[in-house]
Amino acid sequence: MNLRVFPTPQATADAAAEAFARAAREAVTARGAFHVALSGGSTPKLMYATLRELPDIPWRATHIYFGDERSVGPDSPDSNYGTAQHDLLSYVPVPAAQIHRMEGERRPLEEAAAAYAALLPERLDVNLLGMGDDGHTASLFPGTAALDADGRVVANRVPQHDTWRLTMTFGEINAARQRWLLVTGANKAGALADVQAGRGNHPVGRVREPVWFVDVAAAGALQY
Ligand code: 6PG
Repeated sequence: MNLRVFPTPQATADAAAEAFARAAREAVTARGAFHVALSGGSTPKLMYATLRELPDIPWRATHIYFGDERSVGPDSPDSNYGTAQHDLLSYVPVPAAQIHRMEGERRPLEEAAAAYAALLPERLDVNLLGMGDDGHTASLFPGTAALDADGRVVANRVPQHDTWRLTMTFGEINAARQRWLLVTGANKAGALADVQAGRGNHPVGRVREPVWFVDVAAAGALQY
């Protein structure tokens, strides 16, 4: 595992934010633009707070995407886009036309998935992901159909939460130039140790050679 372990959630967030800034500058220098997918959930919030304060990020050449979305509108408190807009994007000069949200409110949801797949770039530079304590990532939950789905983005029935989600597939996630996992908190330690030991068949274990940004609490049961 490409593990980077930090003493606190804040130090983990700061390191991921610094890596984001570096990757953005490198992508813009190399290809003129930075295409990055953001994760949902609560863990990225600390990273967003650091990111909006960092200098020298080519925000005007940055395109923002999302790895997954809940089946809600942009104004919902559950919206991953809404969280990113509130905690990061409303503070930085990314042109609105370069912020690509998943239409969680659209029905049928499959149409939203197809529309999103059509607007994705040939290849993302960075896909920032999180992990649930059940080992899910994006909205690729254990035992759900999207785990083995073809294509780039699908609508996924998630019985664990009695809901539907939009999610990038593993094919799309693993096609990104870099795959990062930002994971903090002792409640994630069990799944992380399983992944390191190759047990538990957790969905997150299917992310291709990720860089793990974790805090000591999440790394509590790891060998490192
Ligand atoms: C989502 C996410 C999901 C998230 C994990 C971790 O939409 O919920 O994309 O994969 O990253 O559930 O969530 P926390 O960061 O809140 O622990």
